[in-house]
Amino acid sequence: ALLLFIVVFILTADYIKNRRLTGFPPGPTALPIVGNIFTLDHKRTHESMTELAGTYGDVYSLRMGQRWVVVLNGFEAVTQALVTQGDSFSDRPIPLITNTYGLINNGNTWKQQRRFALSTLKYFGFGKKSLEPVILEEFTYTFSSSLSQCAGKPFNPHLIVNNTVANIICLLVFGHRFEYSDEQFKKLMKLFEQGTQLEVSVSAQLYNAFPQLMRRLPGPHQKFKRVIEELKDFIRTEVKDHKQKWDPSDLRDYIDYYLNEIQTDDSTFDEECLFMSVLDLFGAGSETTSTTLRWAFLYMVKYPEIQERVQAEIDSVIGQSRPPSVDDRADLPYTDAVIHEVQRMGNIVPLSLPHVTNRDVHLRGYTIPKGVTIIPNLTSVLFDKREWKTPFTFNPGHFLNEEGKFVKPAAFIPFSAGKRLCLGENLARMELFLFFTSFMQRFTFSMPPGVKPVLDYRFGVTLSPVHYEICAKPRHE
Ligand code: HEM
Repeated sequence: ALLLFIVVFILTADYIKNRRLTGFPPGPTALPIVGNIFTLDHKRTHESMTELAGTYGDVYSLRMGQRWVVVLNGFEAVTQALVTQGDSFSDRPIPLITNTYGLINNGNTWKQQRRFALSTLKYFGFGKKSLEPVILEEFTYTFSSSLSQCAGKPFNPHLIVNNTVANIICLLVFGHRFEYSDEQFKKLMKLFEQGTQLEVSVSAQLYNAFPQLMRRLPGPHQKFKRVIEELKDFIRTEVKDHKQKWDPSDLRDYIDYYLNEIQTDDSTFDEECLFMSVLDLFGAGSETTSTTLRWAFLYMVKYPEIQERVQAEIDSVIGQSRPPSVDDRADLPYTDAVIHEVQRMGNIVPLSLPHVTNRDVHLRGYTIPKGVTIIPNLTSVLFDKREWKTPFTFNPGHFLNEEGKFVKPAAFIPFSAGKRLCLGENLARMELFLFFTSFMQRFTFSMPPGVKPVLDYRFGVTLSPVHYEICAKPRHE
């Protein structure tokens, strides 16, 4: 009888504490304690979430354990929250596992760190032409030290592309690149790969839900913390070196500028925050761009006629005697459209990053209290039937008007929208354009003989293609 009483008590308490309040967005019935955790197919969460919008509408709710989550679907609902009512939706839930203290932050700290990152990186050429030679030079290293050795033979582009893109962040942050064979660089890359995998592990999610309990238990979440500490040690060494060579009249990179800020500004700038901001830049800026490029290769081998048309456009506008430049973009509308369509279909950050309401808000007839986690379902926007002619087909025509000129539909928001819009959008767009056109200018990609391209994805930190091998044939000797 006592056991029955306890069970009834827990269930009643759970029902009273967690019931949907009047005016809160509707959603599937939540089970006691676990809520809607089992409503979703966690191997394809973004698709499950999009399907639920068919039943419950563009704004619906789910209870993940003890936490309420509101999912926004479709272009209208997502931009109404993030842009029109952006002030109320601009905070982030802080994951306890990382205890982040850098760019993924809230309030004054976030504002100051974001403003600093944007202006400093802009100074180095974020979205400006001055980064162009750096990106093109990195491509020549990739070309000479990695790709030429693979010529003709099947290879997995994962590591090559990761190294190339990560070195751009190294240049911006540390002021120097690494040889791909450098042991320190290899260690750094390995730590990042481990860290990103562990961050989305089940154990890390449980840590975020039950920190008190998990802190005492062994498991991958403990390893994640060790990986973060090792990464911080790596950055600490760089910072020490920067301090020794520091010259306020010659600030060379992100770390130099940050050290300058610590000296002159006593608000939210300190070394711990510097370490975490650097980790955020690597975490958010490396895997994302490299995953997009890997999708691009895959789409080119899947649609060789599109690859040929891109190459023909590059040949006629740029030729073979000089590398591409960002100024060529306007003259390469088809190539530009293909890159955008790769980003749309690749959909690499399918649920954006989570937001949280920082006050009680009214959205499309519903009331959402302060502190509720918000998931802007970018998948539902990039594949919104109301916005795209052929949402599920790879079609560069989505970005071309009748005269063949490049146009960008408003629903193209792979970098999200509003106050939390991706901080590295300009850099990413520049890298994607210069790397993709450089690859297409020099190589023709194909599948190894007898192998068919498979467009399957893995749902992890990013939505990435399952590992594949391709062949890269030099177009000109
Ligand atoms: C945030 C996408 C590349 C740095 C985001 C968000 C998305 C995104 C969807 C979440 C926005 C939101 O919460 O509303 C992408 C894609 C990329 C890319 C698709 C490449 C194709 C980069 C690069 C960097 C970067 C190259 C930096 C070097 C960041 C940072 C944030 C962020 C720091 C957090 C911003 C904040 O909380 O204020 N990105 N990103 N991203 N991204 Fe990117």
